[in-house]
Amino acid sequence: MSNMKLFDVYPINDITIVRAKDSYVWDDKGIQYLDMYGGHAVISIGHTHPHWVKRIEEQLNKIAFYSNSVKIPIQQELADLLGKVSGKENYQLFLCNSGAEANENALKLASFHTGRKKIVAFSKAFHGRTSLAVAVTDNPSLVSPSNQTPNVTFLPYNDEEALTELFEKEGNDIASVIVEGIQGVGGINVATDEFLKTIRSLCDKYGSVLIADEVQCGYGRSGKFFYFDHSGVQADIYTMAKGMGNGFPVGGILVAPFIKPKHGMLGTTFGGNHLACAAAIAVLEVIQKEDLIEKAKQRGQYLMNKLKGIDGISGLRGEGLMIGFDVPEELKDLRKNLLYQHKIFTGEAKPNIIRLLPALTISRKQIEEFLEALKEEVEQYANAKINS
Ligand SMILES: Cc1ncc(COP(=O)(O)O)c(C=O)c1O
Repeated sequence: MSNMKLFDVYPINDITIVRAKDSYVWDDKGIQYLDMYGGHAVISIGHTHPHWVKRIEEQLNKIAFYSNSVKIPIQQELADLLGKVSGKENYQLFLCNSGAEANENALKLASFHTGRKKIVAFSKAFHGRTSLAVAVTDNPSLVSPSNQTPNVTFLPYNDEEALTELFEKEGNDIASVIVEGIQGVGGINVATDEFLKTIRSLCDKYGSVLIADEVQCGYGRSGKFFYFDHSGVQADIYTMAKGMGNGFPVGGILVAPFIKPKHGMLGTTFGGNHLACAAAIAVLEVIQKEDLIEKAKQRGQYLMNKLKGIDGISGLRGEGLMIGFDVPEELKDLRKNLLYQHKIFTGEAKPNIIRLLPALTISRKQIEEFLEALKEEVEQYANAKINS
């Protein structure tokens, strides 16, 4: 037997998930869990959706992969449907495999297009772990010495004044501004309309490229296809991944028409493979057929309104089915208790923030199941406080 170890980089829960259906997953002992975490914001149309399974199976029996050196009509099929569902029909699609890669390509493209080096990013941003993506991520512990670059300036999120000041000084050197409409890893921080509008107008004035990182907040999760759509601001490049494949690894960027492609400027072996396109098409078909963007909006409002009535949590924020709240230090085991006692997966952010990122198909009944568990935990804490 081999003694090879897995490279130990993930702090993992002692749970083995072996099966999943819609918003439930089951472990190897047959225990059922409610997934309010969407497998890290990835599950958009529900685990193992039958249409998604069928599409992938059918494609697998035809061809899974051939290189981008030949025509791959299913890429155009995906682009047409994505244009229709996102409303960005005049944009161009470049396909890759992950969120980091999407951002890497977006940042590179903006630099090619402008001939400039500088990038503006924001406090608490998370954009991925590859070289430029991690350089614009505001967490020094993730940035290796080789990734460090003087080309990135971090500014406070939602601070129009700081941004204007920087552009007045260095605007002609700025290739791009990259921003999450709702910061995910950073703790569910929502960009104000004013902030996004200010970024847009400064990018217009100085000829910089506006990149919307929609990897987590996009693809219908916020109740609109892209979070940016809430503010009416158009980005020059949208980056996508997570919900795009419902668990099949696929990412992409939507590129505004004024940014022109050149052969060889971007490329990938696996990006846009037949199987990934089939999975991504299935996701969009289900989003359309089941009206999931509207559902995300309504279910999100329902969940948010109910959460407002729970004493003991604070700082409720988010949009659609991307919701965060703060829990007091005394309730710091809440996430663990929800998981091990109530069998509910949730997400977290530091410090003591709960992140809810369920599938867009989550039902009211499942939301109630979560709320009951949450109330029980909060009440237990309140009672313990009274008795102490
Ligand atoms: C906003 C955002 N951008 C980029 C990424 C990186 O995506 P991936 O892990 O697919 O590389 C993430 C992942 O959490 C994310 O939340």
